[in-house]
Amino acid sequence: MKINDIIPETHFVQFNLSDMLDELGEDNVKEILSSFSCPMNTDVENFLRYKAIEFSKRGFAKTHIVYWETEDKKENAFVGYYTITSKSITIERNAVNSREARKLREHGVFNEKTNDYTIAAPLIAQLGKNYTDGNDSLITGDDLLHLAMEKVRKVQNEIGGRFAYLECEEKEKLIKFYERNNFKFFGKRQLDRDETDITGTHLLQYFIML
Ligand SMILES: CC(C)(COP(=O)(O)OP(=O)(O)OC[C@H]1O[C@@H](n2cnc3c(N)ncnc32)[C@H](O)[C@@H]1OP(=O)(O)O)[C@@H](O)C(=O)NCCC(=O)NCCS
Repeated sequence: MKINDIIPETHFVQFNLSDMLDELGEDNVKEILSSFSCPMNTDVENFLRYKAIEFSKRGFAKTHIVYWETEDKKENAFVGYYTITSKSITIERNAVNSREARKLREHGVFNEKTNDYTIAAPLIAQLGKNYTDGNDSLITGDDLLHLAMEKVRKVQNEIGGRFAYLECEEKEKLIKFYERNNFKFFGKRQLDRDETDITGTHLLQYFIML
């Protein structure tokens, strides 16, 4: 007997929330989203439950729902999601090395007065595992982040671009998670008034060169 006879092969499948809305209708999608919970991060939980549909419909940001599934498709589980939007960032010259500076200059605009680069880049705006029913154990954060980066790579393969970025609360576990995945710290941003689900006064900003 082979190990695969006992433990089935599994993989991840992902769906664009806009496609889900078209195919399943808003009520069914809302029901699926209501099964998402993320007790460690209310912003991540509330975004999916209360904002993601509107943001997808209006084109502000696109959410991708990730399922774990067995190869024979007999079992599946909603394990997490990520949301991507298109934004621009400003990165100070002294936050990057010379190779990164060269790439930033090629892809963005350098301001000699302020000594920084402004560049258009996808923002991984939300990312979280689904802690309902222990579904979080079916995916690692690294897997989920790689799916988001793979999506960015695919888009940039079509339209160009080398950078992506994200913002996170100043929490040791999150910092380790992003740094382990090769994201580089480049600055801090004050929270906006409406960002009430986020703890602290600012967010840490990280970029990656893909
Ligand atoms: C961030 C995330 C995707 C990483 O996945 P992972 O590497 O598989 O990590 P785990 O879920 O096993 O968590 C790793 C550790 O970080 C901690 N952690 C995760 N998110 C945290 C958060 N938002 N605040 C504080 N601690 C957090 C976990 O408690 C865990 O601690 P432990 O090692 O003491 O058990 C996942 O933890 C997650 O979905 N977190 C909640 C949503 C979130 O904060 N997203 C990031 C938005 S910037």
